[in-house]
Amino acid sequence: MGVVASAPAKVILFGEHFVVYGEPAIVLAIDKRAYAEAKLQNEKRLSLRSLNLNLSGYFENGTFTIEQGDAKEARAKFEPIKSAVDKVLERHGEDVGLDIQINSMVPVAAGLGSSAAVAAATTAAVAALLDVKMSKEDIFRITYESEKVVHGTPSGVDPAISTFGGTLLFQMDTGFKPIDVKTEIPLVIGDTGVARSTRIQVEKVRELKERYPNIVEPIMSAAREIVLRAIDALKENDLETLGELMNINHALLYGVGVSDESLEWLVNAARKSGALGAKLTGAGGGGCMVALAKNDNLQQVMEAIQRTGGSPFEARKTDEGVKIERT
Ligand code: MEV
Repeated sequence: MGVVASAPAKVILFGEHFVVYGEPAIVLAIDKRAYAEAKLQNEKRLSLRSLNLNLSGYFENGTFTIEQGDAKEARAKFEPIKSAVDKVLERHGEDVGLDIQINSMVPVAAGLGSSAAVAAATTAAVAALLDVKMSKEDIFRITYESEKVVHGTPSGVDPAISTFGGTLLFQMDTGFKPIDVKTEIPLVIGDTGVARSTRIQVEKVRELKERYPNIVEPIMSAAREIVLRAIDALKENDLETLGELMNINHALLYGVGVSDESLEWLVNAARKSGALGAKLTGAGGGGCMVALAKNDNLQQVMEAIQRTGGSPFEARKTDEGVKIERT
């Protein structure tokens, strides 16, 4: 039996994309988690298996060998995990053979931070297995480095929330501050089922910003204003204002080109069914949207998303960041 650790997925309520340029974002950890189990093995190799993706293979002496699934896909998913494991091994000071099994409840490539959740859980599991002392700050740093392998220029918002959990106000230069949200926020997530790459979506915004700096920069300032207003609304549990702000935030994201037809269908369906607000969440271009429902119409919003071809689920916030489940 090995060590099992887990880390949560996230939903960005406000500020995705603009956060890459130093603007603030509000993000919350949700009750869908990625699990990683780490064991020692005699072979001096790093074996990786993803139960949810049906992929397995191993790295040995600088080469990757596929055992199950598509080699290119497996490599793309496993390289960032290897980068995190290598960092823990560096701290351990001795190369050992490891066998890691991932099981994630987080939809992949959907804007919910699955790669960061997997990297944080793996880092914690391997560190605990090898008795390498790590603070949450250390796990955050390693997960952030691993995200660079996946996304190129991540802001760090996904690693922060997967590591620390809760509801955070995140900003690149100042780090994160927990926001005290006392009540439940009735959120429905709708997965379009359209997979996309965060790297490509981030690149799209960068190109647009370079082409039209005087147009995109005011959009970014508006996004910052939305976040500031949203902090007060969250503290006061003012759901009506939050919903309105989500709608405006979605319009800004649409403006910088990261919505798509599948997201528009779900966002509109949610609003028509009585949601207080709805927006894409994460990188966009497909992936997930999030709707703010009222306590008494959550079911209606879920049904509207389902009827429009999306997969809905209720997202409950969780305070639990990365944690050891079993040693
Ligand atoms: C991805 O979950 C959020 C983005 O803002 C990228 C990032 O912050 O690294 C699109």
